[in-house]
Amino acid sequence: MKVLITGGTGYIGSHTIIEMIETGKFTPVCIDSCERSTPETIDRIEKITGIRVPFYQQNICDKDGFFQIFEEHKDIIGIIHFAAYKSVPESVEKPLEYYRNNLQSLENVLEVCLKYNIPNLIFSSSCSIYGEVANLPVNEDTPMGAPFCPYAHTKQIGEEMIRFFAHVHPQFNAVILRYFNPVGAHSSGLNGELSPDKPNNLMPIITQVGIGKMKQMAVFGTDYNTRDGSCIRDYVHVSDIADAHIKALEFILEKRNATNCEVFNLGSGSGVSVLEMIHAFEEITGIKLNYILGERRAGDIPAIYSDSVRAEQLLHWHCKYGLKDMVESAWKWEKMLSISQ
Ligand code: UD1
Repeated sequence: MKVLITGGTGYIGSHTIIEMIETGKFTPVCIDSCERSTPETIDRIEKITGIRVPFYQQNICDKDGFFQIFEEHKDIIGIIHFAAYKSVPESVEKPLEYYRNNLQSLENVLEVCLKYNIPNLIFSSSCSIYGEVANLPVNEDTPMGAPFCPYAHTKQIGEEMIRFFAHVHPQFNAVILRYFNPVGAHSSGLNGELSPDKPNNLMPIITQVGIGKMKQMAVFGTDYNTRDGSCIRDYVHVSDIADAHIKALEFILEKRNATNCEVFNLGSGSGVSVLEMIHAFEEITGIKLNYILGERRAGDIPAIYSDSVRAEQLLHWHCKYGLKDMVESAWKWEKMLSISQ
């Protein structure tokens, strides 16, 4: 069964393609503009799996080029839509770019589903849609909060677009997956997060400071109302996130969905503070990190972690990897990158 992966050379997209090939359940076709990733990821996927995935370097905001793929692959039965910008601080600085890119792409995905009769969609959403919440953990019934950054807002609007679309197209089935904080890399160390020169996310910053690519890092805020004053997040291994996409596809293909637009949290269920993550890295690798206690970052919320019982019960999804695996695999990948550069 052929499935189109938008954003397939990105961090979560590439791990999902690997998972698809390794489980043998679906045949991926990949599309990515490579604006924030590289076509070499296709080589990495081939090195790990032995399979060369059909790949289109194409921006899905360009409707004609995007639609052409469905003329060539008439047997696509579903789309996993990852392609989006995802940096909280960048979205605060460049709101219009986020609205344009993240919403135009989704609109094209939904139009393609209609035009080519593609009944299955898995959408990458984010725990950021919950905003700042008083009661933790959050489950899927926790209402969306006031958006605290444009990135979060594009995910909120995206979810609503899909919900309204599903409402008038009963033959269409969507699963919305709300990721918490995906980290780590493939266990081979051959694929992981390719960050921009100045990464924004915590784990790549930690590993870059660890290897010496970055001289120093800051803990963004130590005066939050949390157990050690730094922000708390729910880190989840990227390969577990990838696995959830296969399970979400099976869920709708086996018609186990109660409605044609279902939503699931994907988190480990426990919160880890920034300082705890730094110390976990130091303990696991034996490397001391050069960090300072810095100011709060715009757009951050103090704490969030997931109640993922719904995904466990209905998708039969469980995290296979813990914090140690996340740190070890991310570190293995960073070391691999430093050798190859
Ligand atoms: C956010 C979203 C998440 C989304 C991700 C995509 C929330 C709650 N989560 O993650 O759903 O998938 O963006 O990028 O908004 N930090 C430091 N120092 C650093 C870098 C980060 O202290 O140098 C801290 C941040 O302040 C934050 C934590 O580390 O508290 C994690 O940050 P990051 O990895 O950027 O992810 P989020 O912004 O939490």
